[in-house]
Amino acid sequence: MLSDTMAKAINEQINKEMYSGYLYMAMSANSTDMGLDGFAKWFMVQYHEEMFHAMKMYEYLADQGAKVVLETIEKPRDTWKTPMEMVKETYEHEQTVTASIHNLMLLAKEENDFASMAFLEWYVTEQVEEEKSAQDIINRLKLAGEGPGLFMIDKELGSRSLSVPSDFSAGLGGEE
Ligand code: FEO
Repeated sequence: MLSDTMAKAINEQINKEMYSGYLYMAMSANSTDMGLDGFAKWFMVQYHEEMFHAMKMYEYLADQGAKVVLETIEKPRDTWKTPMEMVKETYEHEQTVTASIHNLMLLAKEENDFASMAFLEWYVTEQVEEEKSAQDIINRLKLAGEGPGLFMIDKELGSRSLSVPSDFSAGLGGEE
């Protein structure tokens, strides 16, 4: 059983995860527009990961008997001039998501909500990975600069594959 405050805070986080997905989908479209198909793939995989982050919270609320309440998703920016601009924004955005997850964890601690603390651990660890992967690309772009090095990075990013489930209807609908 979750407190109303915790249920509301997790619902707000679902919105932030959905917005993150929307932002990365916009970056994927922007990458395609720039002719960077590898970046486009990387950001689209990132979009799916964000949907997974949101859906894990959705399922947690349902498991705890709390209602999922979906709010409006803010419109993301639609144009970035360089890949570095996109990846820097990704890194900064992930830092805000990390702060938000940490606030949820602090709330769970304040409320002695052990189930939510255990649930949120996964996100705390995931955020370390999220920030690291953006920082790694920034570092590689700094080394490679524009030109052939950029196309090499684009090729590498294009090999990213989805490692989380994307069919969120699994588990719904009862037995076949
Ligand atoms: Fe869901 Fe990129 O954090």
